[in-house]
Amino acid sequence: MPPAIVVDRVSQLFPGANGAPDARALDEVSLEIKRGEFVCLLGPSGCGKSTLLNIIGGLLAPSSGSVKIGETVVRGPLPSDVAFVFQESTLLPWYTVLENFRVSLEFQGRTDGWREHSMAALTEVGMQGFAGYYPSQLSIGMKQRINMARGIALDTAILLMDEPFAALDEQTRLVLGEDLSVLLARTGKTIVFVTHSLSEAVLLADRIVVMTARPGKIKSIIAVGEPHPRSPDFMLQPHFSEIRNQCYELLRDEIRSTVDAMREARDAHTG
Ligand SMILES: Nc1ncnc2c1ncn2[C@@H]1O[C@H](COP(=O)(O)OP(=O)(O)OP(=O)(O)O)[C@@H](O)[C@H]1O
Ligand SMILES: [Mg+2]
Repeated sequence: MPPAIVVDRVSQLFPGANGAPDARALDEVSLEIKRGEFVCLLGPSGCGKSTLLNIIGGLLAPSSGSVKIGETVVRGPLPSDVAFVFQESTLLPWYTVLENFRVSLEFQGRTDGWREHSMAALTEVGMQGFAGYYPSQLSIGMKQRINMARGIALDTAILLMDEPFAALDEQTRLVLGEDLSVLLARTGKTIVFVTHSLSEAVLLADRIVVMTARPGKIKSIIAVGEPHPRSPDFMLQPHFSEIRNQCYELLRDEIRSTVDAMREARDAHTG
């Protein structure tokens, strides 16, 4: 069995605005992700986590290097076995929840049984009673729960999630995190999950990929070694705190250098 995802020496340069030099967002990132694995990308703001996720999902072509999903090189948006869940709820306000699901499933060519798939996914996150609601009738937590269900309804082997719980309060984050862990244990999906939160990474990940400040490189990969499904009670165990502390130590210098770079840029600007 080939790995689910292979990232091979991926670098990303973005052209500088107004004659500024090009900005290197990612520098020779290589990573193999196994089938059924839950991998968290953790790193300071601006280190290239979203860029890497977008390259894996084909939304962005890398400046150099390549990504394979299974044995196929990614050459365009959303390879057939991949679904995205973003930080912001991307539900269209003029459609009901169920109609939103129909649009997304149609877009990915999954028209057969779309209604059953959608209702099953809504049931999975306990939101089956809200299929006929409009997004404006739902709380932020409910919308994000439904956003996650839509990713599940696409029924892909791989879910790419970019800070899906960032806008939620701590308790809702924990509950959704637990749901996701249960989903992983039940379906064997491969999940790549971007987060800023140390605790969220340790609670959810099989492996945590700690990235350096820009340009993003892999600083270290930490295995968590705790079976799914996990509950938030895992956070009470010494093993959890040990790994969290280890992540913090790795991140500390990177966060500092990100803040220093921001201050330098501010001072240069203000003269
Ligand atoms: N389309 C783009 N054009 C130019 N620069 C970009 C573009 N997208 C990202 N960048 C730059 O690349 C770097 C990495 O951005 P990215 O959004 O991947 O970081 P991130 O780790 O996801 O940050 P955050 O945690 O704040 O979401 C940043 O410096 C950003 O300004
Ligand atoms: Mg980001």
